[in-house]
Amino acid sequence: MKIKPTLLATVLLPLSLMLSACSNTGSGSNESVKARQDIMSNWGDAMQVMGGMVKNPDTFDAQKFQEEAAFMAEDASKPWQHFQDENAKGGSTDAVWSDRTGFEAEAQKFEQATAQLNADAQNATSVADIESAFKEVGASCKSCHTTYKQPN
Ligand code: HEC
Repeated sequence: MKIKPTLLATVLLPLSLMLSACSNTGSGSNESVKARQDIMSNWGDAMQVMGGMVKNPDTFDAQKFQEEAAFMAEDASKPWQHFQDENAKGGSTDAVWSDRTGFEAEAQKFEQATAQLNADAQNATSVADIESAFKEVGASCKSCHTTYKQPN
């Protein structure tokens, strides 16, 4: 099929402007890539706050830990809807789309791990009360990233 150059220009030029307006790292940058990356970056921050307390149990702040754990549990299901467009890979591997079942299983495991951490955090008075659930969450991030996220 032949497309007239003028038509091409009217369709493609605005599109490329749109894409560069919200550019970020990786190929296939678009709104969904940014949305899921933003959510995961926030998870990274939350994990650092909680991880700091786990590393230095003297600094355990039950209320702060509960807030972070509640945030994680609430946000745990949010990124997955932003993995629809196969052409917007961002920092994801092809496996997100070629092995959908495995990806969804990792997502579900993660949601369960964060729900458990949130539950444990509610009555926690020390790191001992949340340590095992916290490690499960961390392992879940890592386990999914191994297959579905490109190495940095
Ligand atoms: C079910 C799979 C899965 C789980 C669970 C998961 N991630 Fe990710 N994560 C990904 C994928 C895929 C990407 C790449 C996203 C992209 O750039 O397209 C990613 C990207 C990231 C990024 C980079 C964001 C950016 O700005 O480029 C960070 C940080 C991150 N994840 C942190 C976490 C943390 C922390 C956890 C656990 C608390 C976690 N992730 C759990 C799949 C997962």
